[in-house]
Amino acid sequence: MQGRNARAAPSNSSEIEHVLLAPGAKCGDTSAMLKIDLTGRRALVAGVADDGGFGFAIAKALAEAGAKVCVGTWPPALGIFQTLLRRGKLDASRKLADGTLLDFEKIYALDAAFDTFDLVPEDVRENKRYRELGDFSIAGLAAQLTNDFGAQPLDIVVHSLANGPEVKKSLLETSRRGYLDAIGVSAYSMVSMVQRFAPLMKRAGAFVSLSYLASQRVMPGYGGGMSAAKAALESDTRVLAFEAGRKYGVRVNTISAGPWASRAASSIGIDIDAMVDYASSNAPLTDPMTADEVGNAAAFLVSPLASGITGTTLYVDKGYHAMGKAVDPRHTPDGDPGRGDAKTS
Ligand SMILES: NC(=O)c1ccc[n+]([C@@H]2O[C@H](COP(=O)([O-])OP(=O)(O)OC[C@H]3O[C@@H](n4cnc5c(N)ncnc54)[C@H](O)[C@@H]3O)[C@@H](O)[C@H]2O)c1
Repeated sequence: MQGRNARAAPSNSSEIEHVLLAPGAKCGDTSAMLKIDLTGRRALVAGVADDGGFGFAIAKALAEAGAKVCVGTWPPALGIFQTLLRRGKLDASRKLADGTLLDFEKIYALDAAFDTFDLVPEDVRENKRYRELGDFSIAGLAAQLTNDFGAQPLDIVVHSLANGPEVKKSLLETSRRGYLDAIGVSAYSMVSMVQRFAPLMKRAGAFVSLSYLASQRVMPGYGGGMSAAKAALESDTRVLAFEAGRKYGVRVNTISAGPWASRAASSIGIDIDAMVDYASSNAPLTDPMTADEVGNAAAFLVSPLASGITGTTLYVDKGYHAMGKAVDPRHTPDGDPGRGDAKTS
């Protein structure tokens, strides 16, 4: 029985061509190729303060696809980031495929620990890194965006930030305060951003956040409640996808990325280089994962090509999450260890 969307099979090659290509396009016409096109869209990437993390790689991928990119930067890191940009220290990483430099449309101060400015304690407001910045809360950023770009300024929101003040402590040693702060900054901030940014997005807008396998498996050294924060982030992704999907027509997904030696990961206190080596030795694909791979996956997820995908956790980790046992890095299913280092890209 044919469903209501079923079509009669094309009977000849020109008919097939017509089905696969846009009307008027011819075979070999590269403009008819399937591509990620974010032209005319504006993205906010929250959690960029240098060129070493996933946020920067995602911002770059979105710009490569034609989007305008604003970033939200944590106040304690904002001054250094602006200085690095001003002095050209990030120019090499900012280079896009067409030779131009990635340009941020605007850099906003954002402390995702605070939903509204009235919740910011006096000592933070008076801190020298904060006091000149105006309203750096999530609600403050929403207000600035509408002020700068109008009522529906956003199409894409990327949450690429996390913080756990007691991340170096085991869960057994973690205080209630440290645990709740980790969840507040690393998971609730996403809920708060969807609450405040979804109403500012055009229909078919998309959110994406960054998670880690510690949500599902024990990762010794990833402490302070950060594993619970990532579990909350993944669970909230499903619920937010439903609620914000129904209410605003937006999509919400998260990427569970493999280990990467970003500034944040390098300051946790675990040997991140050893984690990267371990993951690539034991993953199905043995090339180390790159931040650009995460950037490209994010660009796909927020693009119209992913219009049917919401509420999902997408693993971008060379398949490491699928493994249940450590293996010889040279292992292959046919037992020929000499081919186990086959490169995949
Ligand atoms: N690096 C990894 O191995 C890895 C693996 C999986 C997932 N992730 C996740 O990727 C995301 C990005 O991290 P990254 O590793 O690319 O490091 P990163 O250092 O590039 O990004 C973390 C950002 O969070 C910002 N930040 C911290 N507290 C904040 C706050 N209160 N308000 C606003 N911003 C704040 C930091 O300034 C920094 O810019 C995080 O969610 C992280 O948990 C990282």
